[in-house]
Order: sequence, then structure tokens, then C-alpha cells
Amino acid sequence: MNFLPPDRNCGLCARLCAFREQNRRKYPAYHNAPVEPFGSLNAEILIVGLAPGLNGANRTNRPFTNDYAGDVLYPILKQYGLARGNYQKRKDDGFELINVRITNAVRCVPPENKPTGEEEKNCRHFLAAEISAMPNLKIILCLGTISHKNVLCALGQKQSFAKFKHGAVYEIPPSAVSSVQNGILLADSYHTSRYNINTGVLTYTMFEEIIKKIKGLLNK
Ligand code: URA
Repeated sequence: MNFLPPDRNCGLCARLCAFREQNRRKYPAYHNAPVEPFGSLNAEILIVGLAPGLNGANRTNRPFTNDYAGDVLYPILKQYGLARGNYQKRKDDGFELINVRITNAVRCVPPENKPTGEEEKNCRHFLAAEISAMPNLKIILCLGTISHKNVLCALGQKQSFAKFKHGAVYEIPPSAVSSVQNGILLADSYHTSRYNINTGVLTYTMFEEIIKKIKGLLNK
């Protein structure tokens, strides 16, 4: 299945369109459009975030890039061999993901980092199409509850099938993902947000454990 990303002027969400127009006037040098995923569709790992940050991914057009959450995520991916190069918070910094693709549940920046349920729903078919377009996919790492919820929905699973729990790993039946034959794993982590790090909900060590676990699962 081919993955068709949203149009630059995607009009599915009235509130997000209005915010985008406001940001285009206020920050003309920013990307201010749906943010493109990062990494190859041939990757075995898909990391799903929430939505672009206003001055981060919405500015740079690369998920988690110039966002605090990326300052946590990218160095740890590199430390565990899932990325190479120098992460310099710009799309053209030459930083590369290895066997990983990163995307968001919602592709446009929402006011105050909070998409509505309707916006999540409007954006979900892009996530479903992206998952279906990854023939080698083995593990989806969901960062936070909104990512978890939308990945489950995109896979056609009920929320009762898998509750969000930091460190949990669930087996998704093969029938849920048309592109893969052996089923996939859904893993959960708290989001690498500034709030979670500052409040101690997530520590760097906890996130390293998640990445180690994912690598271990991949090699099974
Ligand atoms: N947080 C996310 O969840 N995604 C991004 O792209 C940036 C910050």
C-alpha cells in the first residue's frame, strides 16, 4: 500500500487550519504545515509521538526536531545504535535513523499541544496508511496515551484490548496489519516531554530501558 501524506494545506480540521494560518502570519519562516514522518518505510520499528510542537517540529518539518522531547529521544536512539550523525535540531543536519521511522498521531501542531478527539480521528487514516505501508514492521513504540489510543484505533483494535502502561508490550494479531505476515508488537512508553522529565514521570534511565527492551524484542 502506498502512503500518501496529507496535503500542505490539508483542510480536515477547522481549528488546526485556523491555528496554521495564524502561525503562517506570525512565524513566516516556519514550516507551518503537516509534518513529514522521519525515516524509511522499510524500518522494523515505528515510533509514534503525539503532535508537532509549535517551535519544534512545526518549525523544522521533522518530528521531535527542535522540540525538548527530541533532545531526550534522539541522543538515546543514537546511543543504542538506532541513529547516526549529529543531531543538531535541523532537518538538514544529516542525522539519520537506523531501522526506525518516527511519525505523529496528529500531523499538524495543535494549540497548547492538545489535539481534540475529533482532530485525532481526522488524522488517523494517515497513521493507518503509514503502518500498512511498512512491509518489515515489527514493533510500534507508542509515546504516551494519545499515541497508544490512536495506534490501537488505526490497527482496528478496541481500547480494551490493551491498556496504556509504561513498559507494556502487546502482541497485535497478524490480521490487523495487512502488510505484515507475522503480527506486530505494540510497546508503550511515557512520552519524552519536558513535563514528564521535569516531574520525574519519565527519567532518561527509564527511557533507555524501553529502547533496550525494544532492541531485545527485535532480535528475538
Ligand atoms: N512531540 C511529539 O509528540 N511529536 C513531535 O513531533 C514533537 C514533539
